[in-house]
Amino acid sequence: MIRRASIPGRINILGEHTDYAGGCSLAFASQHRLILEAEFIESGVFGEETVVALWSEAGGPPARLNVSSNIPIGKGMSSSAALCLGVVLCVHGDSLDRQDACKEAQRLEHVVLGTPCGLLDQMAMMHSIEECCTLIDFSSLETSTIPYPNTWKFKLVDSGIQRTLNSEDYRQTTSEVKKKLHVREENARVRQALNSTNEQLGELMNQTHESLRMIGVSTPEVDSIVKSLQSKEGVLGARMMGGGFGGMILVLVENDSVLPQHPLLVPSKAGFIEELF
Ligand code: GLA
Repeated sequence: MIRRASIPGRINILGEHTDYAGGCSLAFASQHRLILEAEFIESGVFGEETVVALWSEAGGPPARLNVSSNIPIGKGMSSSAALCLGVVLCVHGDSLDRQDACKEAQRLEHVVLGTPCGLLDQMAMMHSIEECCTLIDFSSLETSTIPYPNTWKFKLVDSGIQRTLNSEDYRQTTSEVKKKLHVREENARVRQALNSTNEQLGELMNQTHESLRMIGVSTPEVDSIVKSLQSKEGVLGARMMGGGFGGMILVLVENDSVLPQHPLLVPSKAGFIEELF
């Protein structure tokens, strides 16, 4: 038997560095996908080293494991959360409910990859619906599905900067007062986004970037790329996305002809598993 998991990338519109603080986020699944194929065999576990380590920690049976993915790696799009979820779905089939699958994938990321992630990535990937985005409240782990207005045009621009620090450094170095203020204001921005014009949404994204800068998860190089995008004709807002210190910049554009070399993001379906015999 072969199990094949298909997991999307994660786009976070607003609500960055709020998940592990009981805040909220507005996110969706992108058209990018990671595919993990697990062929169940008699003995042994074969595949790339990290995948085998995750598989073993998850208690997977003997299998041949194959990963293919077009989720950019190390760019703030949660390629590692997608891999962990792929492992969880292939090991457990559909016996775990979505939220338990998210928590198990988070546990694998903590234990095997050593990343102290929250639940944003996994929940955005598992609760999303095509043409919708998901409002996640991390204080209750409740989600609401929000139709994605077809006037929202998001694109990604790669800052070209690889992360050198991780969110653990942020947690240790940023003052509690600044962190609390960030989460409070970021939560308010998420709520405002639900009833905002495109221009207002762009402004909220710009404010989020400023707040990420204030809490010390950006870098001067990223700030200058974000600034130049923000001042571009037809750009309504831009901000660094994900854990920080580089990676992708999320840009809200007036229409598809702005930044023509970058494709529009398309809200896609959640992670799923299929069985092939
Ligand atoms: C990373 C983590 C998430 C979240 C974001 C920041 O993607 O994996 O849990 O904390 O950073 O919003």
